[in-house]
Amino acid sequence: MKIKANDLKDTERIGKIISRCLEKGTVICLDGDLGVGKTALTQFIAKDFGVKEYITSPTFNIIKEYEGRLPFYHMDVYRVDSEDDMYDLGYDEYIYSEGVTIIEWSHKIKDILPDERISIEIQRLDDTSRIMIIEGKGKTYDKLAEELKK
Ligand SMILES: Nc1ncnc2c1ncn2[C@@H]1O[C@H](COP(=O)(O)OP(=O)(O)OP(=O)(O)O)[C@@H](O)[C@H]1O
Ligand SMILES: [Mg+2]
Repeated sequence: MKIKANDLKDTERIGKIISRCLEKGTVICLDGDLGVGKTALTQFIAKDFGVKEYITSPTFNIIKEYEGRLPFYHMDVYRVDSEDDMYDLGYDEYIYSEGVTIIEWSHKIKDILPDERISIEIQRLDDTSRIMIIEGKGKTYDKLAEELKK
């Protein structure tokens, strides 16, 4: 499905809806050009999810751990060269955990993404508006799609 965010406030509203659908083990994949709003959306999701810390981009660390209503893992795989590197970082333990995982630049590790996931591609229209193309598989995605239609 496609959703339009006219401004940052809209992105915040979408983040809130996503946050409320998250369950143990949910994986969210975020893709889109440099600076399009992947981290901004993650920050809104995290804020509503109960993460008190301010989230910054984990580009150099690849993975950062936070605590919200469940453990909250934020990955930025932009600088990852091989999927093996992800396993070395404990990738499997994160995605098959009791927490939720958000992965920026997920297409860089597309071969090792779980089947059940929510994928969001953000496209820039102008300074403040964005199109979000949301796809996925699994019951969390189904629930989210239902909520976003409202
Ligand atoms: N509707 C919107 N949704 C998201 N971000 C927006 C929107 N309107 C303006 N912005 C701005 O766009 C910028 C997005 O930057 P952000 O760091 O989130 O991008 P990113 O996709 O994570 O970049 P990178 O590829 O470097 O990780 C922010 O400065 C944000 O305030
Ligand atoms: Mg980012």
